[in-house]
Amino acid sequence: MGQLAKSTSRARSFPVRFRYLFLLATICGGCFLILTISNTSTILFLNEETPTSSLAHHRLTSADAEETFTIKTPGCTIPGLKPFDGAIKKFIRHPDIPRCRFANTSLLDNNDTHIWIKSENIQYYDMPKDINITCCYKAFYRPTVISDITSADVDDRVQYEMCIAFDSYIEVANEFVKVTCGFDSTPIYTQYFLFAPKKPMMTFNEDATETPRNKSGYNVIVMGIDAISRLNFYRTMPKTLTYLKTKGAIELLGYNKVGDNTFPNLTPMLMGAKDTDLKRICWPHISSSFDNCPFVWELFKDAGYYTALGEDSAKLGTFNFGKIGFIGTPTDYYTRTFMHEAEVHVGNKKDYNTFICMGNKYFYQVLLDYVEAITRTLKSSKLFGFFWEVTLSHDYLNYPMIMDDSYEQFLKNLDESQYLDNTVLILLSDHGIRWGDIRYTKQGRLEERLPFVHILLPPSFRETYGVAYNNLIQNSRRLTTPFDIHATLIDLLNLDDLKDDKIEARRKTSYSQNKSISLFLPIPSNRTCNTAGIDDHWCTCHKITKLLTSSQEAQDAAEHLVKHLNMLVRDTPQCSYLSLVEILEATELVVGEPRANEKGWREIMVVVRTLPGAGVFEATLRHEDTQWALAGTVSRLNLYGSQSHCVKHYQLKLYCYCH
Ligand SMILES: *[C@@H]1O[C@H](CO)[C@@H](O)[C@H](O)[C@H]1NC(C)=O
Ligand SMILES: *[C@@H]1O[C@H](CO)[C@@H](O)[C@H](O)[C@H]1NC(C)=O
Ligand SMILES: *[C@@H]1O[C@H](CO)[C@@H](O)[C@H](O)[C@H]1NC(C)=O
Ligand SMILES: *[C@@H]1O[C@H](CO)[C@@H](O)[C@H](O)[C@H]1NC(C)=O
Ligand SMILES: *[C@@H]1O[C@H](CO)[C@@H](O)[C@H](O)[C@H]1NC(C)=O
Ligand SMILES: *[C@@H]1O[C@H](CO)[C@@H](O)[C@H](O)[C@H]1NC(C)=O
Repeated sequence: MGQLAKSTSRARSFPVRFRYLFLLATICGGCFLILTISNTSTILFLNEETPTSSLAHHRLTSADAEETFTIKTPGCTIPGLKPFDGAIKKFIRHPDIPRCRFANTSLLDNNDTHIWIKSENIQYYDMPKDINITCCYKAFYRPTVISDITSADVDDRVQYEMCIAFDSYIEVANEFVKVTCGFDSTPIYTQYFLFAPKKPMMTFNEDATETPRNKSGYNVIVMGIDAISRLNFYRTMPKTLTYLKTKGAIELLGYNKVGDNTFPNLTPMLMGAKDTDLKRICWPHISSSFDNCPFVWELFKDAGYYTALGEDSAKLGTFNFGKIGFIGTPTDYYTRTFMHEAEVHVGNKKDYNTFICMGNKYFYQVLLDYVEAITRTLKSSKLFGFFWEVTLSHDYLNYPMIMDDSYEQFLKNLDESQYLDNTVLILLSDHGIRWGDIRYTKQGRLEERLPFVHILLPPSFRETYGVAYNNLIQNSRRLTTPFDIHATLIDLLNLDDLKDDKIEARRKTSYSQNKSISLFLPIPSNRTCNTAGIDDHWCTCHKITKLLTSSQEAQDAAEHLVKHLNMLVRDTPQCSYLSLVEILEATELVVGEPRANEKGWREIMVVVRTLPGAGVFEATLRHEDTQWALAGTVSRLNLYGSQSHCVKHYQLKLYCYCH
């Protein structure tokens, strides 16, 4: 046991520990229990400098540590949260699935190259038996010549081409296509199609696209799912989560949002700037476009990447909701023109804020299929893609359940096509759900501020950039923000900077106070919301408020602590019964500013002295409803010396006073 504890606290290189754990797990299942205890105490004494392997991480977090503290560092402790906490359970139910209007009756189908008529579905349409159906294929596009750049809907401009008629199938030659079918001149059916044909790169001349440069670098794909907290991802998309974990994705537990809704959380990620700084940087007033803003995809463009920006809603577009979007075309692949037309003409199943279906298909599925199509088209080029889903997750806590199968399948497809071998995939959200009954609970308030992030690196990355990779693992339990994602993306532009020796050199620079720190560097454990650029209002780290030691809460918490200590030594008759003699200190661990009447727990940290032996103990106790419970473990703040000579167990040694 002692040897194990030593190796746990010393080893910084995780593979050794990983093997150790694996070996132990193979020998006896019960060892995990022991490891859990040993890890908790290591955390306690060494302040979470303990590296974690993904295996250990997973077992330990689900077993114990995560339920007491989400993260615990000298700079920030985020309270533990359970996905299926009693206060939350009542909000979780499988939603009635709104089905798309033409889900079973679409008259058309397609693959990457063709569109054809599904004659078996003609029966669902009211038309004369002896007349053949004909369809009209119309390509449309975003015109480059703009008549009125001051128009508020400049980003929605569109030009349709001439109709090409077909009566069975047609080869596709365009990116955006509208097909209308009917008989004589009576239209009966319209469907929109989004394709990802190979294009010349915008910033390069024709030569460059003919012979792409020999670039080193991974594809980088950031896929957002709007308004999903870390734990709501556990609750609603468990298959996707499991697939990510199986593939070795790293989860950021201490990822804290920096602004209220999507926009102020995406500008730090995409530009490294607070939304309020954009006025100065590139967006002088609300009626300006974003054309002059320093989006991170510009850097990827310059490095020879194809770039893509796609959102599954035009109405709720990140840069268009109450804003005017782009005048130029921001990326090589840009879906807005398509999504806007599709939404206006074949959007259906409007649910609160937005249409969730495009004809026969969910909008989110249109986006997923599009991302897959791009990866097929650009298999031999480099891609930086930023894609954002909002239609099914924005308004309702449980709707993401509908998407779980599709996202899992999407990941499997990318994996099976070997695309993930060369791709850094980041799946994340901007914040948790911002309204509804869950927001009247304390956990709901914290979840709103703690969106999910999973980072999946290709195996070759883990092998080549070992130190950077291990730093990322360590950072999964540090306080992190969208600003850090920005620095991380920039690091992926220059892989040379991620080599072990470079990372070691960069460690020595004084970056620790930066607001934006690459996740491939060690995020300082003393980072606070203040140094990370998180306003108090959004901060989920504990703030300490002194309590009078004579207060009722302090007394109750202290008594519960001593009761707990006695419970720990109860089965060891050689230890004395302990009595509370003094409360040395009592503090309340407050998180942000609770709203009046918010339902949830209070956490109180007390330091007490007991007799016999005058042991000084510190612990955090959580009070909920009428119950007190220990959060984490009990620390002993003074030496036990020879007081506990009669017991061997290292943890009992902390608490036992031998008769
Ligand atoms: C579509 O088909 C499925 C089964 O194939 C059925 O359960 C569903 O009700 C149908 N939906 C509509 C809108 O007709
Ligand atoms: C797409 O469909 C067309 C027409 O049915 C077919 O000829 C073609 O082989 C299909 N392409 C792929 C990649 O499946
Ligand atoms: C309908 O299509 C079939 C096969 O393409 C053709 O033989 C028939 O003449 C067409 N009927 C009419 C009314 O155009
Ligand atoms: C690209 O560069 C790598 C390493 O510099 C080299 O091994 C490879 O052969 C090059 N590929 C092409 C197509 O030039
Ligand atoms: C930290 O910020 C400074 C100034 O903004 C910058 O020069 C430096 O490169 C940053 N360091 C890192 C590691 O990002
Ligand atoms: C945090 O730790 C770094 C060294 O890792 C040190 O330079 C810095 O001053 C510390 N910051 C605070 C606020 O303690």
